Amino acid sequence: MAEPLLTVENLRAHLFTRYGVVRAVDDVSFTVARGETLGLVGESGSGKTMTCLALLRLLPPGGRIIDGRVRYAGADLLTKSEKDIRKVRGEQIAMILQDPMTSLNPVLSIGRQVEEPIRLHQRLTRTRARAKAIEILTRVRIPAAEHRVRDYPHQLSGGMRQRVMGAIALSCEPGLLIADEPTTSLDVTIQAQYLTLLKELQDEHGVAIIFVTHDLGIVAKLCHRVAVMYAGKIVELVSVDNLFDRPLHPYTRALLASVPKSDRRERRLPTIEGQPPTLHEALPACPFAPRCAHAEPKCFERAPPVVAMPDGSMARCWKVADGSLTH
Ligand SMILES: Nc1ncnc2c1ncn2[C@@H]1O[C@H](COP(=O)(O)OP(=O)(O)OP(=O)(O)O)[C@@H](O)[C@H]1O
Ligand code: SF4
Ligand SMILES: [Mg+2]
Repeated sequence: MAEPLLTVENLRAHLFTRYGVVRAVDDVSFTVARGETLGLVGESGSGKTMTCLALLRLLPPGGRIIDGRVRYAGADLLTKSEKDIRKVRGEQIAMILQDPMTSLNPVLSIGRQVEEPIRLHQRLTRTRARAKAIEILTRVRIPAAEHRVRDYPHQLSGGMRQRVMGAIALSCEPGLLIADEPTTSLDVTIQAQYLTLLKELQDEHGVAIIFVTHDLGIVAKLCHRVAVMYAGKIVELVSVDNLFDRPLHPYTRALLASVPKSDRRERRLPTIEGQPPTLHEALPACPFAPRCAHAEPKCFERAPPVVAMPDGSMARCWKVADGSLTH
């Protein structure tokens, strides 16, 4: 079998803060194939954004990668020089951040902002880069792009700004796009248009996508597989169909059980009873144990094993391991 486009193995990233060490990414492993969309879901604070940032070595101040490997297209991203990793970020892996309003520069025209990475990475003249920027803005459905290139971010609607962010991310034709909850600030119609656009671009260019979201509807429409995060760990990695029809891990089951079956593919991720843990405190061996209906003493004492299923899914749980949780 061909090597996956992205392979993340046992990645650990800590944030060293005033109030202690936050284990934001704690032994995370997954792969993304070329052209695949992997959903990353989980409660707020479960480590989704930090996982994405760690892959690209963009952790906030105080953040450090402690352990693990990240391979992209055969190259080890964690040992590359700062210069080389910057090239990867611009040319091979693009990221759309959680808040598009703050990611666009308010004092530069949108044309400049789309052009700049193209000029930098493809060494084009300003005129050719401008032509390419107009072409890309047209592709992301900015109307009259040849005029709008001179607009500043505040002159665009929220949905347009979102699409400009998409244009910047796609301008260098990356192999992997990381989109961190890119639709929360948009109204429903614009969200739907944006998702359609992403899907089209994926079909046209075969770009792989890591899509961070709280929205099960988006997961159902866009993703091939889903990684469910809890307390800095992936607790279940599963195909979309199995996520909805045959979830394995008690956390995933609890999430889905709190949504009526007919609504599961439409709704935002629900919350379940109890608080998610704060990640700078000592946690039980299975961090979900205090909220888990199936917990037993060993769950608090010994880290649950990662169980790989024959269909390629995996779950991190004692009860899945001993076969006592069936459907
Ligand atoms: N800049 C920061 N400094 C210190 N701790 C942080 C920082 N950013 C996030 N954290 C902590 O790191 C952990 C993981 O946060 P992360 O932002 O990855 O969560 P998330 O799953 O993306 O949540 P959300 O769904 O709310 O975006 C949390 O415990 C959070 O409090
Ligand atoms: S290991 Fe134990 S506590 Fe953790 S999810 Fe499985 S059954 Fe629940
Ligand atoms: Mg986040």
